[in-house]
Amino acid sequence: MASLELIEVRKAYGAATVLDGVSLSMETREFLAFLGPSGSGKSTLLRVIAGLETADGGEVRLGGRRIDQLPPGDRGVAMVFQHYALYPHMSVRDNMAFGLRNAGVAKGEIGRRVLEAARVLEIEPELDRKPAQLSGGQRQRVAIGRAIVKQPQLFLLDEPLSNLDAALRMRTRVQLAELRNRVDAAFIMVTHDQAEAMTLADRVAVIHDRRIQQVGPPMEIYARPANVWVARFVGSPAMNVAPVELLDGESGRASVRLGDGSQVDTRVPRAGLAGAGPLQIGLRAESVRVTGAGAGTTDARVELVERLGDRTLVYARLSDGQALTGEDRGASRVQAGDIVGLHMEGAAAHLFAPDGSGRHPVESTA
Ligand SMILES: Nc1ncnc2c1ncn2[C@@H]1O[C@H](COP(=O)(O)OP(=O)(O)OP(=O)(O)O)[C@@H](O)[C@H]1O
Ligand SMILES: [Mg+2]
Repeated sequence: MASLELIEVRKAYGAATVLDGVSLSMETREFLAFLGPSGSGKSTLLRVIAGLETADGGEVRLGGRRIDQLPPGDRGVAMVFQHYALYPHMSVRDNMAFGLRNAGVAKGEIGRRVLEAARVLEIEPELDRKPAQLSGGQRQRVAIGRAIVKQPQLFLLDEPLSNLDAALRMRTRVQLAELRNRVDAAFIMVTHDQAEAMTLADRVAVIHDRRIQQVGPPMEIYARPANVWVARFVGSPAMNVAPVELLDGESGRASVRLGDGSQVDTRVPRAGLAGAGPLQIGLRAESVRVTGAGAGTTDARVELVERLGDRTLVYARLSDGQALTGEDRGASRVQAGDIVGLHMEGAAAHLFAPDGSGRHPVESTA
């Protein structure tokens, strides 16, 4: 059964349209991540679902019930805010119980739910402390606890880990994954952090330019980006994208030529590409291997080298000025100013049609 359903949701602030026809369907117990640049409308969409903002058009349904006309408290959703605030004068226990008391839930029931949530989040020993006596990670968990006690059908988490340092963030991420297994609800989490989205989410929705650009399992977004924008946004460093010319050929797979004359034989079906207009090739840095310059390679001048320990990123320029980022092994000796060879792995290349839509290699039958 579908849990959340968004149908053509629209939201504008004055003349500025922030969300334009956003549609989405989630399964019960699914974990979805919203990934997108700052200002793309991620928080706005969560607030529309939670009822803190009113949509200008479209429908929001949860568990088959239309909820966009209901007050926030009646929707069956609980939100953890980007900038959550705990009541400083209240204990952890009271912070978590507060919303339930207001909703008139029986005292014994409140006590049970608070204790259960504290157990799941491992903050039981902290229940009688004040927020000021907690670490950042513990406070964050109290904020999540306040949502858990409401027993929502859907959790909305707006960058719940963004205030934490890297190590704590990693630990809380694991806790969130465990929480997800123990709680019978669906989750939407907004994040800037691709690793977080990739590791926690069943599916990722990439939001940009007022719309969901693509929604799918993390590896599908990475391997089969719907368009150039998604291709360059997901993955680090950004995918190389360069204009190419389609070569004549009998083969069902497209062969293309870059501006410097080097040829790449892709595994992308040729059908529908000939005569369509200007094409672009997409190659991740891991598919552009740095080799010695010489016969059979594409020569490039190195502009910048980033040594990451296990691998080395090499920012280079082809003879026609096209920038390409390639990868070399960790112990690479390449230096800025060097002329190197680049081996472009055609089997891994993507092509982008004139409208920007992604065309991907056919699965290898091997
Ligand atoms: N109350 C408001 N009034 C007017 N404009 C707003 C309001 N809230 C948000 N906006 C605008 O709507 C757009 C989307 O904002 P939103 O907060 O949803 O972005 P976001 O994707 O959550 O960004 P971030 O990653 O920085 O949190 C932004 O351009 C923002 O300036
Ligand atoms: Mg936001």
